[in-house]
Formats: sequence, C-alpha cells, structure tokens
Amino acid sequence: MIFNRLRTRRPTTAPSGGCPYAHAHTAPHPAPAAADPVPPGPRLPPAPAAGRLPAVPAAGQLPPVPPPFTDPAQAAEFIRQFHREQPAAGAPESRLRAVREEIDRTGSYRHTPAELAYGAKLAWRNAARCIGRLYWRSLVVRDLRHLSAPDDIAAECFEHLRVAGNGGRIRPVVSVFAPDRPGRPAARILNQQLVRYAGHRDGDGPAAGAVVGDPAGAALTARARALGWKCAEDRFEPLPLLLQERPGERPHWYELPDDTTLEVPLSHPEHGWFAELGLRWYAVPAISDMTLEIGGVRYPTAPFNGWYMGTEIGARNLADADRYDMLGTVAERLGLDTSSERTLWRDRALVELNIAVLHSFQEAGVTIADHHTESERFLKHVAQERRLGRPTPADWSWIVPPVSGGLTPVYHRYYDPVDEEQRPAFLAREPW
Ligand code: ARG
Repeated sequence: MIFNRLRTRRPTTAPSGGCPYAHAHTAPHPAPAAADPVPPGPRLPPAPAAGRLPAVPAAGQLPPVPPPFTDPAQAAEFIRQFHREQPAAGAPESRLRAVREEIDRTGSYRHTPAELAYGAKLAWRNAARCIGRLYWRSLVVRDLRHLSAPDDIAAECFEHLRVAGNGGRIRPVVSVFAPDRPGRPAARILNQQLVRYAGHRDGDGPAAGAVVGDPAGAALTARARALGWKCAEDRFEPLPLLLQERPGERPHWYELPDDTTLEVPLSHPEHGWFAELGLRWYAVPAISDMTLEIGGVRYPTAPFNGWYMGTEIGARNLADADRYDMLGTVAERLGLDTSSERTLWRDRALVELNIAVLHSFQEAGVTIADHHTESERFLKHVAQERRLGRPTPADWSWIVPPVSGGLTPVYHRYYDPVDEEQRPAFLAREPW
C-alpha cells in the first residue's frame, strides 16, 4: 500500500518533486563513526579543491583511488543493526572484519542468506508510505541472487506470482535477483508491477483518442507493442513482462502465463447491474520498479508484494480521472443527480464502488483489507514498535486512506518524521 498517492496534502517532511517514490538516494554516504571497530581502508590523499587540477602525487604518495563500489560505512551500519536485532547471530566483530576485507578485495560483499532475509524485512519496516507494516516479519524472502539472465528472471517472477497468489490467500513475498556488482549492473524489470493492465489509444469510433484500458500502463504498452507484442485491446489485459539486461539494449518480453494472474471480476452485493460494467482487478500488487538497498548493496531487481487494501482499487485505480475514471458511469447507473457537486454524487458512487471491490474479493476468497481495519492494524504496529524503543517514520499523506480519512484513526495524529537516508529501504530506481 505504498504507491499511487500523488497528493498535495502533506506534512513538512514530504519528498520533493513529482515522482511518486521521490526517495533521494544519491546523497553522500555518512562518514564512518569514530569508534568503528572495522580496520580503516587505505588512506586516500586529500581531494583536490573544486576547479583545480589534481596535484601530481609526490614520490612515495599513493595515487588517488576511487571509492569502493559498495560503501563500507553503510555495510558496517547494517551488519551492526543485524547483529543487534538478531542476538542469535552473535557478536558482529568478526563479520564486520570479513565484510570490510571483502569490500577491499572485490569492491562489494555478499550478504549471508540470513542477512538478506532480515534486510528485506527491515526495508519493509522502514517503508514510510506503507500502512501494512504490522506484518513485516512475515515477509517471504526468495533468495534468487544466483539468477541474472532474463529467461531465468522471468520464470521466477511468474513463480513469485504463484507463491504470492497462493490460491487467494495472499502471502507477502519478495524475490531478490542478482545485485548490481562492480562493472556489472543487474538486469532490470521495466514494468512498474509484475501484473498491470495495458492501456492504448482507441484508433476510431466515438471514443477515438481516449485510452482503452489503464492509462497508467500506456507507456509500457507502447514499448511492448514496438517489440512485437500483440495487444488484444481489451480493457483489462495484463501486460507482458519486459526485461532489459543492459542499458540501451533491446528488452526481452514474456507473456504472463494464465496461472500467474489471479483476477477478481467485480460485482455489488445489492446492485445486480454492477457486474455488467465488466470491471475486474488482479489479486497481487507486486511492485517491480524499486531498488532494494541493504547495507550499501543495491538489488534493482527485487519485486515485492503485499495484499491489496480495497481503496487502492476502488478509490484510485478505478476512480481516478486519469485511470479508469468510473465514477460518472457508476453514478449514472445508480440514478444519482449529477447536475451539481453538492449532491455528492461522486462520493456516493465512490462508496458503492469500494463496497463492490471488498465484496467481490471476499466472495472470490482473495485476501483484501478494508481501510478501517488496516488503519487500526497500523496503529497497533506503531505502538508495538514504540514498546521496542523504535520510531515508526510514516508519511501521513500516504498512510491516510483516500476515502473517509477522518473516520480512520490514522487521520487524527502525526508520525515520526521520514528520514530519506534510512536504510535498508525500497527506493525509486535510478535510471540506467
Ligand atoms: N497502489 C498500487 C496499486 O493499486 C499498489 C501498491 C502496493 N500495494 C499494496 N497493497 N502492497 O496497484
């Protein structure tokens, strides 16, 4: 539930810019703490002042060495946190030395499976925009770091959807593929989510120029079509998976096998006509365009999912004017007076649409949360973390649901400020 909330109403700590993920991650790394038990790396000569030519190293002086690919300070900070929160792992010192030695030798280091699993869970716990964090410990972490070829990644993304979909009992899952390594960037998934609907401009007829399908999928649809994907031009047509191995290379594309895309046709508990609208939505929201960063190591190919909160579908994907834009149609079928905003026809249509989403998922046996329950769970998480002596940074404007905000307890308070430098984290992926 950490996406799709481009809203202007935000408290002081909002990330800048129009990008929905706008996490800064290009800032300089913090300097190692003075009491760092890790042996220091080779000493570098002082950096030349800006605008001046670097001095020719004097005899006996080391020439300038570029900093290692992976920042040792970030690595050490994570290793310490891991050992602090996982006492069974023992004291951190020997692992800190091994990590530092591996970075000095290779430019980076490899997480142990336990470090990877815990690091991914911490990234979820740190996701300031996510209301569903109570369950951060239950994340299923699929360690697929040995895979970097597009065919293998595609096959395991499909398996991810099956594991996560679990016949309707949605499980939160992350699949972690090979990280960026010195001189070898990892392959990228170009899709925003593993399942998303195509959107394309209608060529002729009365609606010529309007987007059929999901306008949020239009750019990827055009790209997939240029690669040879044949689009049936349906309103709810899952996009193929697009994988790019190197910057500028032609992406590979893969049609989603049928058994990967669990979908729910929408109906309403009281209005029989609702099913005739032909609306549907998929069961597993699996974000695939964010980098998982743990201890200075970047995993740009690490799709992750939770389960849906109804409002994401009913109050945004199907309701937003620049998405499926269904409120006018629903209001008309409800027979509402749309001649004035004051009849609140939009609000009434919106509630019925959200009722239909929750009802249909429940009928289909697919996990979904309502915003009242999920809000309470979130405050339970905040209280639980507080008892453990930890803050829960949260972005109010993303946490408060897009319908009935003031009816939920998350509306009536503020949260610990968001720290853009906090790691581990899921971050907006840098372009190649
Ligand atoms: N809001 C996005 C969507 O509607 C999904 C973001 C992740 N949501 C979640 N419940 N884990 O597709």
